[in-house]
Amino acid sequence: MAAELPCAQFLLSRRSVRRFKPDPVPLDLVLRALDLARHAPSAHNRQPWEFVVVRDRGRIEELSRIHEWSSPVARAPLAIVVLADTRQAPDSYMQDGAIVATYLWLALHCVGLATVWIYTLNKAEEIRRIIGAPDHLFPVAIFPVGFPAVEPKPRPRKELRELVSLDAYGARLPG
Ligand SMILES: Cc1cc2nc3c(=O)[nH]c(=O)nc-3n(C[C@H](O)[C@H](O)[C@H](O)COP(=O)(O)O)c2cc1C
Repeated sequence: MAAELPCAQFLLSRRSVRRFKPDPVPLDLVLRALDLARHAPSAHNRQPWEFVVVRDRGRIEELSRIHEWSSPVARAPLAIVVLADTRQAPDSYMQDGAIVATYLWLALHCVGLATVWIYTLNKAEEIRRIIGAPDHLFPVAIFPVGFPAVEPKPRPRKELRELVSLDAYGARLPG
């Protein structure tokens, strides 16, 4: 069997971080993460996404108030809104957007920055208003970004055996 790559440890060490140091985040580091994230796959390689890096405190505060779980945004020096283009990819924008958002989360982790995915689906119009985005861009996720002020413990996960079937649904792993 091929040796497992060190990226397994990388994947396992990603966390949702909701508290950040007050230190400013260099824009170069954010751009490096975005430059990595744009290599995400997409249907027909349409790459139907754009990113808004929000540093303005007024807009950050507004984004932090969109719902009851969005408060981590207010504790971050900046936030990134991931936008998926519904015109460019009407049949796949949600999947493409989710993939690039996941890549971005991992890319931020890769460059030493911390974040958490903030839910957006029922607040699209409000988010578009806050950042001034047009109607055809759907906000897939908001990522508050900063250097981590905490090291959260891993959250529990379902067991592999509960998730995998062999050949047909429900045929669980032996043993
Ligand atoms: C689609 C999605 C939406 C999420 N929305 C929020 C949110 O609005 N606020 C929040 O604090 N965490 C949010 N999270 C983070 C999850 O709570 C977190 O990923 C989960 O508890 C597992 O923890 P971990 O990321 O540290 O492994 C979201 C995660 C995903 C993937």
